[in-house]
Amino acid sequence: MPATILVGAQWGDEGKGRVADWLAAQSDVVARYAGGDNAGHTVFVNDQLYKLHLVPSGILHPGVVCVLGNGMVINPVNLVREIDELSALGVEVGPERLLLSTRAHIITPVHIALDAAAEAARGAGAIGTTLRGIGPAYLDKTARQGIRAGEMADSDGFSAALAAAFERANIALAAQGAAPVDTAASISACLAAAERLRPYLCDTSEYLNRQLKAGARVLCEGAQGTFLDIDHGDYPYVTSSSPTAGGALTGLGIGPLAVERVIGVAKCYSTRVGAGPMPTELDGPVADRLRGTGENFWDEYGTTTGRPRRCGWFDAVAVRYAARLNGFTGLFLTKLDILSGFDSVKIATAYEVDGHLLETPPAARGELARARPVYETLPGWSGDLSHTRGVDELPEEARAYIERIAELVETPIMAVSVGPARDQLVSAGATV
Ligand code: GDP
Ligand code: IMO
Ligand code: MG
Repeated sequence: MPATILVGAQWGDEGKGRVADWLAAQSDVVARYAGGDNAGHTVFVNDQLYKLHLVPSGILHPGVVCVLGNGMVINPVNLVREIDELSALGVEVGPERLLLSTRAHIITPVHIALDAAAEAARGAGAIGTTLRGIGPAYLDKTARQGIRAGEMADSDGFSAALAAAFERANIALAAQGAAPVDTAASISACLAAAERLRPYLCDTSEYLNRQLKAGARVLCEGAQGTFLDIDHGDYPYVTSSSPTAGGALTGLGIGPLAVERVIGVAKCYSTRVGAGPMPTELDGPVADRLRGTGENFWDEYGTTTGRPRRCGWFDAVAVRYAARLNGFTGLFLTKLDILSGFDSVKIATAYEVDGHLLETPPAARGELARARPVYETLPGWSGDLSHTRGVDELPEEARAYIERIAELVETPIMAVSVGPARDQLVSAGATV
């Protein structure tokens, strides 16, 4: 029963979309298990750029069935838009190849308004959310007052549930001094989307278990990253779901024994978007160079919000923690090409916090913000790596850099990418 879980090892945007697209070639089913359209997964195939927010990256492989799992929060209007945009690009996204869990929770305009009001109320302590309504939707879920996708099957019932939710939320918004949401217009947009999505509804846990039993290869595509996990990230600067490997089990309704591999994805340096500590964050020419100007689609500007990402050197303390926490069997490193041209490159191997040397991130609130990285400096390399396909073709210093990362994070490297396109990767040899 071969399931593979793919997890972001840093703060999101590690390149999960492109790795999921690569692994989808060896999969029958690709299933998203957490988050919603706060995710932005970029895949570049045959000179066409796809920016996926809800639909799994497997959709670009004809014959692969895609699942939106019960652990997700779905904005029905945005899902319909994404389906239509993909269809306009010639991608087949019918209900025969995209299944929406009846147990996934729904995001409505009131969640988006509540997200904005909560961020405004936090003032200087704002999390920097994507303002997609993610937190308030998971809050409704855990408060046992959310609306599940399955309720879209009954138009009258769905309409009544929306009306009750809007009334409750508008009272909460008024109490925070925020403008109410136009109930009639929003409900009619949700009902129109529900009409379109009805054929996609499915008991996806039942479907996945049936497929696994029949020997299908299932790829569980993570969103966000380990440090944005509600339990294991740096709370409260996290998202409201479980992007780590355990989240794939609850978020899809499959058992642990179905899992054969857990693959981590990490960028060859660090980035973060939104607030919260980032020990290796840099300010100045190195960060500017890593970020790029925004001219290239792979430059470090958010896929979902367009915000410039914070950049810094590779943080081996963070990725080692992710490897242990998720039980990575292998690691995929992305964006090695971006590190070309530096005289030297650095890796954080430990943190210094209040005079103590730590080899794992501190759990106490506020301590990570005081962590100072302890760096190891390695020689840099130069040249255009984008055409490199064999590990032996890489400059010796780049090979040494990858090998040192594997050692520090105690995980074999499966492959390294040297550009955003499907074929721009170098197999590092580890079969996991
Ligand atoms: P995700 O959210 O983890 O799927 O990552 P994003 O798609 O938000 O951000 C990763 C960005 O890096 C995208 O624009 C990718 O096209 C790009 N990318 C992925 N791998 C590589 C690589 O090896 N080299 C370069 N230059 N870009 C890459
Ligand atoms: P992908 O799947 C990077 C961050 C936000 C914010 C925090 C909470 O593309 O890697 P939320 O809207 O979820 O309540 O925001 O989490 N965040 C991401 N950062 N990549 C993502 O997704 C993210 N999804 C959420 O910036 O700091
Ligand atoms: Mg992203």
